Amino acid sequence: MAPNIIPDNLISRLSELVNTKMGLHFPENRWKDLRRNMTGVAQDIARIHKIENNPVICIEWLLTTPLTKAHLDILAKHLTIGETYFFRDKSLFQALRQNIFPELIRLRQKKKCIRIWSAGCSSGEEPYSLAILVDQMIPAHGKDWKVAILATDINATCLEKAEKGVYTKWSFRNTPAWTKEKYFKKRDEKYFEISPALKKMVRFSQLNLVENTYPSEFSHIRDMDIIFCRNVLMYFKPEVREEIIERFFQSLTDRGLLIFSPSESPCVRHSGLCPLYLPGTTFYRKIEAESNVKPEPDPDPNPNPNPNPEPEPVKPVKPDSQPPYLKALTLANIGRLEEAETFCRQAIQQEKLRSEHHYLLATIYHEQNRLRESVKSLTHTIYLDPEFVMAYFLLGNLRQKQGRLTEADKHFRNTRSLLLDMKAEDILPHSEGMAAGNLLKMVQSMISKMA
Ligand SMILES: C[S@@+](CC[C@H](N)C(=O)[O-])C[C@H]1O[C@@H](n2cnc3c(N)ncnc32)[C@H](O)[C@@H]1O
Repeated sequence: MAPNIIPDNLISRLSELVNTKMGLHFPENRWKDLRRNMTGVAQDIARIHKIENNPVICIEWLLTTPLTKAHLDILAKHLTIGETYFFRDKSLFQALRQNIFPELIRLRQKKKCIRIWSAGCSSGEEPYSLAILVDQMIPAHGKDWKVAILATDINATCLEKAEKGVYTKWSFRNTPAWTKEKYFKKRDEKYFEISPALKKMVRFSQLNLVENTYPSEFSHIRDMDIIFCRNVLMYFKPEVREEIIERFFQSLTDRGLLIFSPSESPCVRHSGLCPLYLPGTTFYRKIEAESNVKPEPDPDPNPNPNPNPEPEPVKPVKPDSQPPYLKALTLANIGRLEEAETFCRQAIQQEKLRSEHHYLLATIYHEQNRLRESVKSLTHTIYLDPEFVMAYFLLGNLRQKQGRLTEADKHFRNTRSLLLDMKAEDILPHSEGMAAGNLLKMVQSMISKMA
């Protein structure tokens, strides 16, 4: 059965189930993603339970069966978005290198122990980037210094990949070449494996952030100096985010830091967390409990073990410095389309030549069923970036909806020829984590149906 035949009432109940069990928020404007992804879920569930491979039957089954870990693993495999890469977000890593780590090293000079948690680590690029930073800034880690990096995710398939530590070029799209040369071994033309020393620095473990299982002595989730939870909470409902932020707060040590991505930061409203604005990045510091230990006295006037960059004084930036594009993206993700449109227009006014700004506006119009405006924005996107795969694909879909089949066919063919130049596992920019190979299959079947 085609996935779009799943009736609304069923998809609505499934979306509630997924929200309760995994925190993932699929509002009505994302039901099409949920419908599409249920094809894979149905296949996997059918394989282990011998039920018919059919999304409708699978959803009915999921709604009436007590879910086990195996079921949640399947849902997580197909419904989460694992998009990530090494050293994602330059300003974050700059702030860590120049401000945050030097200060932390100074504070921990006596204890020589640092605890870091990457929550929602996907396939490991984020925690391994942190391990590289630690290796550069604390050369004595593993000897005098104990630096624990815990990395957790709900998605067991991603964790398996993280533990293997083998990556393709696509994971290095923002990584200086020397990092790859120093910390990775080339296995063949395609794959690079992380060095065993770095692998040893990170401990991976499966954890569903929605469950009330942390802080915990047992899983070592406690007294964290820094918690990274980036590009995860944006997929959750506000009330779920608040509960998770409270548990993060409980898992931090005094003056510990919490970090989200710029688009998620506006969701942080917690009286025990104080924002620390650094250029391009906002950190949240746990306010020190009065009775707690004061920072250790500084035994060394110049304790930064990294001889090169001097720590810069923390320069506050204005709280409202989040770029309008990110505001628009967040609002669009949670279905607040009118506000998203306003911020997206601001973003375009500021930077007219950014294709992604026009594409975001096109997707907002598309959600609002303003097809002609959406087509116009997509044409603009492609004019600015003739290789913007998702723009061709959306344009094809729009033309098909308008009954302009010759044009639709032309756009699907353009999509296909761009995809043929990519590797199947490449994640398509602006696609919410879709692999090129998957879109290629979809486009090929659309072209043959139209023929
Ligand atoms: C877009 S990735 C973010 C990866 C990395 N933090 C980054 O910013 O590059 C989002 C990750 O959140 C994970 N995730 C989603 N829901 C989760 C949950 N309820 N508990 C734990 N992890 C979850 C997904 O499996 C996915 O790997």
